[in-house]
Amino acid sequence: MITLDLTLPDTRYPIHIGRHLLEQVELLLPHLPLPKVAIVSNETVAPLYLSRLQAALEAKGVQCLSVVLPDGEQHKDWATLNLIFDALLANRCERNTTLLALGGGVIGDMTGFAAACYQRGAPFIQIPTTLLAQVDSSVGGKTAINHPQGKNMVGAFYQPRAVVADMSLLDTLPDRELSAGLAEVIKYGLIGDAGFISWLENNMAALRARDSEALQYAVKRSCEMKAAIVGEDEKEHGVRALLNLGHTFGHAIETGQGYGSWLHGEAVAVGMMLATAASAELGWLARDEVERVRRLLVAAGLPTRAPRMPLSRWLELMSHDKKVSAGAIRYVLLKSLGQGVIHANLADTLLQKILDEND
Ligand SMILES: NC(=O)c1ccc[n+]([C@@H]2O[C@H](COP(=O)([O-])OP(=O)(O)OC[C@H]3O[C@@H](n4cnc5c(N)ncnc54)[C@H](O)[C@@H]3O)[C@@H](O)[C@H]2O)c1
Ligand SMILES: [Zn+2]
Repeated sequence: MITLDLTLPDTRYPIHIGRHLLEQVELLLPHLPLPKVAIVSNETVAPLYLSRLQAALEAKGVQCLSVVLPDGEQHKDWATLNLIFDALLANRCERNTTLLALGGGVIGDMTGFAAACYQRGAPFIQIPTTLLAQVDSSVGGKTAINHPQGKNMVGAFYQPRAVVADMSLLDTLPDRELSAGLAEVIKYGLIGDAGFISWLENNMAALRARDSEALQYAVKRSCEMKAAIVGEDEKEHGVRALLNLGHTFGHAIETGQGYGSWLHGEAVAVGMMLATAASAELGWLARDEVERVRRLLVAAGLPTRAPRMPLSRWLELMSHDKKVSAGAIRYVLLKSLGQGVIHANLADTLLQKILDEND
């Protein structure tokens, strides 16, 4: 097991990465103010892993309540969030009950937001079960639900007490979900580590074959980069925005096509492709570098072609994004492969050109 540390002005917490950690509840116990937890999971993950976690906790005298939500991005909403509060209140959970998020990014984001709100703040721990959640969403304290008009529009910055990423849980993850997680892994290389891009090119087959050493390295390198960036800029006043590479376009795809039809990672992959093409149009990347990014995404099993939407629709969707500042859409682009940069506004002609050429 490897343990990383995320240090913030008001708190710090461990990120444990390894195999067979689910039942190692000693990793959780020091973070529970009371021997009482509410495990939040969904209908897919609960039958696979909930009883093992619950039994291990109960063996240590921890009282467990479980809350099993419907599965899917389309349920990342108020009505489903409320089911968590209903269960906590029906079971007379006090503020010191710790919420455990056992699931992918949807469960992690909703449980974190529920913890931020419940009695003005209950402790919570992330136990991410998808690659995407292990490399990205479980770390850094962004929590939210969606609104019909925009992704993650209602939420809070609220940090977990610990993150436990158990690689063995990925054994049951569908291939398409594994690929979606690889999109966020590739993102870290593109924004900040050219050497990691080469490592990914050389190890993509091993990652897709779920070679545990390769996966563990990818999760570790991703969490190291995320922890460093969040440690520097918790509330996204500056450098943290680089983590949104591909997300301005990606969120437009997710919202525009209906939550759940594209996986988040797939939309981000296409978004990164568009950001890469825009960077080439601005003269920062060569054509063969754009093709290199495309090859890497394809090797990861990800789409690179955007769905057809009129430019006016893209602009409408992107102008709702949280990255909009003083009316300008802020894009994350690439100065070079391995160097992200924030860029306000792209000319309509340039956008139309990259969308046409991507088609
Ligand atoms: N908070 C952040 O910083 C942040 C960062 C990136 C993404 N996100 C959010 O994360 C969400 C996407 O997360 P995701 O890709 O994990 O999707 P997800 O949570 O929907 O999980 C994907 C699917 O895999 C299933 N699943 C989960 N673990 C499994 C396992 N071990 N075995 C078998 N099936 C399993 C889930 O039930 C679901 O059907 C989006 O809502 C996105 O906005 C948040
Ligand atoms: Zn993302």
